[in-house]
Amino acid sequence: MSTDNGRRFPDGFVWGSATASYQIEGAAKEGGRGPSIWDTFSHTPGKTLNGDTGDVACDHYHRWREDLGHVAELGLQAYRFSVAWPRVQPGGRGPVNREGLDFYSRLVDGLLERGIQPVATLYHWDLPQDLEDAGGWPARDTAYRFAEYAELVAAALGDRVHTWTTLNEPWCSAYLGYASGAHAPGRVEPAAALAAVHHLNLGHGLAGQAIRRAAPSGQLSLTLNLHVVRPADPDSEADRDAVRRIDAVGNRAFLGPVLDGAYPDDLLADTAHVSDWSFVRDGDTAAARVPLDVLGVNYYSTALVRRWAGSRPRSEDDGHDDAHGSPWVGADDVEFLRPEGPYTAMGWNIDPSGMTELLLRLHREYPGQPLMITENGAAFPDTVADDGSVHDPLRIDYLRRHIAAVGSAIDAGADVRGYFAWSLMDNFEWSFGYDRRFGLIRVDYDSLERTWKDSARWYRDVIARHGVAD
Ligand code: FCB
Repeated sequence: MSTDNGRRFPDGFVWGSATASYQIEGAAKEGGRGPSIWDTFSHTPGKTLNGDTGDVACDHYHRWREDLGHVAELGLQAYRFSVAWPRVQPGGRGPVNREGLDFYSRLVDGLLERGIQPVATLYHWDLPQDLEDAGGWPARDTAYRFAEYAELVAAALGDRVHTWTTLNEPWCSAYLGYASGAHAPGRVEPAAALAAVHHLNLGHGLAGQAIRRAAPSGQLSLTLNLHVVRPADPDSEADRDAVRRIDAVGNRAFLGPVLDGAYPDDLLADTAHVSDWSFVRDGDTAAARVPLDVLGVNYYSTALVRRWAGSRPRSEDDGHDDAHGSPWVGADDVEFLRPEGPYTAMGWNIDPSGMTELLLRLHREYPGQPLMITENGAAFPDTVADDGSVHDPLRIDYLRRHIAAVGSAIDAGADVRGYFAWSLMDNFEWSFGYDRRFGLIRVDYDSLERTWKDSARWYRDVIARHGVAD
């Protein structure tokens, strides 16, 4: 609700913050953990900025108690973390590695002791390397292995985890991992990327069913990074068609099977020259459509496209540069333009209206489906003042405007249950290594010391007030 004094959120709206295992844990070879595709990828020369790896990261594996102290001091009501599959099943199959599972059991207990809801993501991109060696997500078996792993974790933690998220951003796993190659495992095989899309959707459904069996009291969710795509010229039919194509391959490739139980016809037609989708078997999309208690939405920026008319497009805005393939499988005739600024340190445009638009679209197309913002935040080139403080007004402004945009969607009827800031602390930002800082809390990567940025204090006040000043 908007008032003169600002915006208060509905009762029960949950404030949280998010992290992911490979980005913060470190201890890559401890506790019986096996290698993941991100260990292999980050250790391959040229794959990450400055050759950074997650070997140490924020050392959260050893400093988790201190980190939970920060979570509690911020007043977070929920904390979204991910479970590293290679800690629980070092080779991606077979019996549980107790030591690995115990780490998460202690973490969950630590959250509950502090009155914080544990929100566990089962897959935030760290596929056990052995499974990649057996074919990775383009191989159907990986979906079954994922469901088996999900069942093991749910059986062990199901009495305590509040919300389960099967996958984080399967768009990235499939298209950045297997089509553009910018993410692990770094393959540039567009047809395999489409098979990966399907096996991620199937894996989500099978894991969801397993979680329902093993942890019936938990809430079930999936987190998608849905793209808000706009046409360069809204009056151009060709540009509007470019939007449709990107929406199909970027959004409806997941929303379709997961929420409607079918792949959209236009997606299959658009990508027919790449794949015949014969990897989809009878019953698969029905299996993918497991009812979700909440759909997780990660939102950062928007995209601007037009129908390409010229030589083969090369644009850094879609991750389609000389070193990588295009993540936009089958959409070679779509060109990505740079949306209007301002931009974050990732080069992503800042446009809170896209957040409202996306939430209202989901509300319209999937009425009755509860939603949750599971990630939103911004990297800026933070500087440390002489007294050690970090003044980050740009991050505060970004968060404030996006939280207000969530409020606008709620005012217009969207059922949004919570907001998680990305991220609790600076961490390993995938191919950008430690160079891009998204944290509310600064991490000094030499001393591993944590320091609250101004944005952390600001977010603590938002939570205490249950809203933002307009
Ligand atoms: C999302 C990822 C998350 C983080 C943010 C900036 O795509 O889920 O791990 O890297 O972007």
